[in-house]
Amino acid sequence: VSGDRILCIPDLQKAASQKLPTSAREFYNSGSTDQITINENSTAFSKYRLRPRVLVDVSKADTSTALFGRRLEFPLGVSPAGMHAMAHPDGEKATSRACAKAGVAMGISSYANYPIADIRSACLSSSGIPQIDHVIQLYTMKDRAMQLRIIREAEARGCKAIFLTADSPVLGVRYNEWRNDFRTPEGLEFPIIERDTEMIRKVTHDDTFTAFNDDTHNWARDIPWLKSVTGMEIWIKGSHYFPGLHRFLQKLFCYAPRREGLATAISACILTAEDTLMAIETGCHGIIVSNHGGRQLDGVPATIDALPECVAAAAGRIRIHVDGGIRSGTDIFKALALGAECCWVGRPAIWGLAYDGQAGVEIMLETLRIEFKRCMQLTGCNSVKDITLACLGVYRVDGP
Ligand code: FNR
Repeated sequence: VSGDRILCIPDLQKAASQKLPTSAREFYNSGSTDQITINENSTAFSKYRLRPRVLVDVSKADTSTALFGRRLEFPLGVSPAGMHAMAHPDGEKATSRACAKAGVAMGISSYANYPIADIRSACLSSSGIPQIDHVIQLYTMKDRAMQLRIIREAEARGCKAIFLTADSPVLGVRYNEWRNDFRTPEGLEFPIIERDTEMIRKVTHDDTFTAFNDDTHNWARDIPWLKSVTGMEIWIKGSHYFPGLHRFLQKLFCYAPRREGLATAISACILTAEDTLMAIETGCHGIIVSNHGGRQLDGVPATIDALPECVAAAAGRIRIHVDGGIRSGTDIFKALALGAECCWVGRPAIWGLAYDGQAGVEIMLETLRIEFKRCMQLTGCNSVKDITLACLGVYRVDGP
């Protein structure tokens, strides 16, 4: 990185990665199996072109939006990701402070290294008022009593929603973890799932995960149970789409003008985005179109490509957010144009932590905010509501 100046997220990734030991770097940066999905998550954004309007007064362009009734400075949150403290000793507390400073939301992973109370306290103003909202991420766990304890704690600490990670009945096949016999470093704990450092280090991360998660999970049992025990909003994270039909539609609308092609594709797709419909039918409040940053099932599509089908299926009946591969403000803009209300980033926050703790996460968030604002202004958008499909140009599909 020239002069160690961080100008963009790839600069941050490079500088942070150099600071991390191999096993931590690979744990954070890798995806599963052949790395197809993790790579495509980022590269897929480049298929989408912008369609700017010029000679618009953008001097008062406003990047803000709202989530859970609270203003977000721009449509972003930090995705729940385990083990922030392996990147920096202050871990999730530093992330929370940086999010509070930037005015964005934060997800707390069940595998966080600090208790929910500490992470929430980190975002308090000098007068003791939380400056941002947090959501608690849950897996579908075998141990219902523990799941309930996590829910009660999250409620008591003022978390606004449960992000139920639905794509992880078992862990993805992660060769890096096997190769490095990846174990959480000495001294780190998982207080939310009640594991101290000694218990954690006895087994690999893969074994811990498999022991906790419930591969019998299902829509009919787990969502009604969650709804029966909590009044928190329930969002499903990791909703996929129907790949066969999507490929067919991609071919059909390949190189077609963006607006016309996608509009037709949307109405056709409503019938096939099964998981989006399941989330609506079971009464969930929202979905995060997510493939776990390419860490679970490799070979699923980039989330930005899955998004239109989920948006179409939702037809405005459920809130839709997206994460995966977002590395610039323009990526956020494209996701909003394709129908997401808000974006989340996982690895960029970890890179920020590894680079310089809270200050590094602040750099990451400010970089994305500035890029997003510039993109809005250069496309002639004055508010996030102005970001629509009309802002995207040609929809191109890679390959034959
Ligand atoms: C994750 N992610 C994740 N998701 C989740 O629901 N629970 C978790 O505990 C974790 N842990 C986790 C650890 C690490 C190291 C990474 C990189 C990711 C997935 C995360 O919430 C999010 O979906 C992705 O990180 C988004 O993709 P990007 O922004 O990292 O490309």
